[in-house]
Amino acid sequence: MILVDSSLVERKDFGVDIEDRAYQFGDGVYEVIRVYGGKVFAMGQHLDRLWRSCAELRMPLPFGKDELAARFGELMKANQLSGDGIIYLQISRGVAPRVHQFPEETRPLLVAYTREVQRPLQAMENGGSVITAEDIRWLRCDIKSLNLLGNVLAKQAAVEKRAIEAILHRGDTVTEGSSSNFFIVKEGSVYTHPLSNLILGGITREIVVKLAEDLKLNLIQQAFTVDQAYGADEAFITSTISEVLPIISIDGRSIGSGAPGPVTRKLQRAFEELAGL
Ligand SMILES: Cc1ncc(COP(=O)(O)O)c(C=O)c1O
Repeated sequence: MILVDSSLVERKDFGVDIEDRAYQFGDGVYEVIRVYGGKVFAMGQHLDRLWRSCAELRMPLPFGKDELAARFGELMKANQLSGDGIIYLQISRGVAPRVHQFPEETRPLLVAYTREVQRPLQAMENGGSVITAEDIRWLRCDIKSLNLLGNVLAKQAAVEKRAIEAILHRGDTVTEGSSSNFFIVKEGSVYTHPLSNLILGGITREIVVKLAEDLKLNLIQQAFTVDQAYGADEAFITSTISEVLPIISIDGRSIGSGAPGPVTRKLQRAFEELAGL
């Protein structure tokens, strides 16, 4: 089953209109929400970010957060999602005859589905390798929009080099991963790019920043260079799917000892505890 606005319908019965603006312009937003053991994790934070993305794109929503959360509950129940998985949702500006400007008469269209997704336990234990890639995305990366071609091309480049992620940089400055936020550890301090139009404010990033505070780690939200990343003692990415995932090499250069470091492990453990894992 999939959720289309307020109705649960068979996936095969849902026809997407070619003039849906998500299809034609990528004119819409999305969220990926984690489900652990059939329970939604950090729903409130995801809905807050969704509302912000919609506001930035001037897409007023015809429903409230509580209403949407309740519909997701029904969707999970209909799909019997009782283990680990995700809820994916996207909201298009709607269907209307094709013009670039906002159509006068259209209403946003929400579609959501669930999928079982296991935790990447092996990569979380052993760490992964990444490449670097020029950040060619637009300048509103803070909006979780459906325009993901820059991210798609970067991730493909990573996969072709047997890496798990592409770490993006604008000039020398590291921004974030193609589908994750990026952190380094140097001399006990943890660094990540500050919130701005150049990165997505990741929910996992937000959680890790708070956990670092609780653990009395010195977390500095400050941009750093690709060379500083190469010279880090530890590195890790964060995302809804990857949680806190150690990075052990960048562009074939070992990071620190070439194994997941103690600060990364501490944050992994704290995240698991918070999420009841
Ligand atoms: C570009 C980008 N940055 C960061 C993230 C991590 O965000 P979150 O922790 O909310 O999953 C994502 C997730 O898909 C992403 O696409």
